[in-house]
Amino acid sequence: IGDLQSLTSSITAVTSPFRRYLSELHEKYKVINDGAVADYIPELALAKPEWFGICVGTSEGQVFEVGDCDQLFTIQSISKAFVFGLALEDHGREYVNSKVSVEPTGEAFNSIVLDEVTNRPYNPMVNAGAIATADLIKGDNGTQRLKRMLEMFKRYTGREHDINVPVFLSEKATGYRNRAMAYLMLNFGMVSEKIDETLDLYFQQCSVLVNARDLAMLSATLANGGVNPVTQERALDERYVQDVISVMLTCGMYDGSGAWAYRVGMPAKSGVGGGITAIAPGKLGIGTFSPLLDAKGNSVRGIKVCEDLSRDFGLHLF
Ligand code: DON
Repeated sequence: IGDLQSLTSSITAVTSPFRRYLSELHEKYKVINDGAVADYIPELALAKPEWFGICVGTSEGQVFEVGDCDQLFTIQSISKAFVFGLALEDHGREYVNSKVSVEPTGEAFNSIVLDEVTNRPYNPMVNAGAIATADLIKGDNGTQRLKRMLEMFKRYTGREHDINVPVFLSEKATGYRNRAMAYLMLNFGMVSEKIDETLDLYFQQCSVLVNARDLAMLSATLANGGVNPVTQERALDERYVQDVISVMLTCGMYDGSGAWAYRVGMPAKSGVGGGITAIAPGKLGIGTFSPLLDAKGNSVRGIKVCEDLSRDFGLHLF
């Protein structure tokens, strides 16, 4: 299709050729109704299958969007990549790595498996690893720790975030599997004893409300070396940008990560709320939202949109 620079250079986002390209992409995939809305967290089953938004934010601060980019949904597992960054800022690489490995599992996101030698969860993107990562977030109590997380998201997106309380309570009430994993990790000394507070924090981080535009800003900020390209605020210490992005590349799409890296070639993170955030380092961030998920928990339309963008603009890393 051509070179991204010249397509995005006309800043009038509404009429630009790139905006038109995105509209065509939206038209092309909105008719695809494969996949299903997540229902293992009861509140998530309320999502409308037709919701569909695509947003691209460049590292120069331009934003292009089409479809349902104001519709709020819960960030779910996408939070894991960013909370990993905050844990690295709080404790440094060595300590965080001693509690959570960075090895892809090839297993589902809710896999209970821990590394048999070190007892560490495999990576910060599966639920077990994300709970161990949430445990590392500093603060005197649960409220302060949540506040620090919400402030972090604000640095990336440039706006205040709330949590969806019904989704939080729904996960808290039904998340037996996550609770069991947390206790297993407590048994191995991989998480601290404030386990209920940490599980609440984990369920709350998954319940943070975002829209497709926020997802584009999250990845545009990482694409821009950790600085929000619109507000110019630093969201993540420069030292850890590479850590977060590389784990997204190897583990961000769960047991779909290998095929994703092969076909799309962009570090990314998905969530069962229907979001995907994907990074073209140095260039742009993509945010997609469509709650119809495949069997691995990744958004069907979101994957297709990222495949097209990667192919048409040469965004594959290799
Ligand atoms: O803990 C859970 O199961 C959810 N809060 C998050 C899972 C998730 O988003 C997996 N994503 N594909």
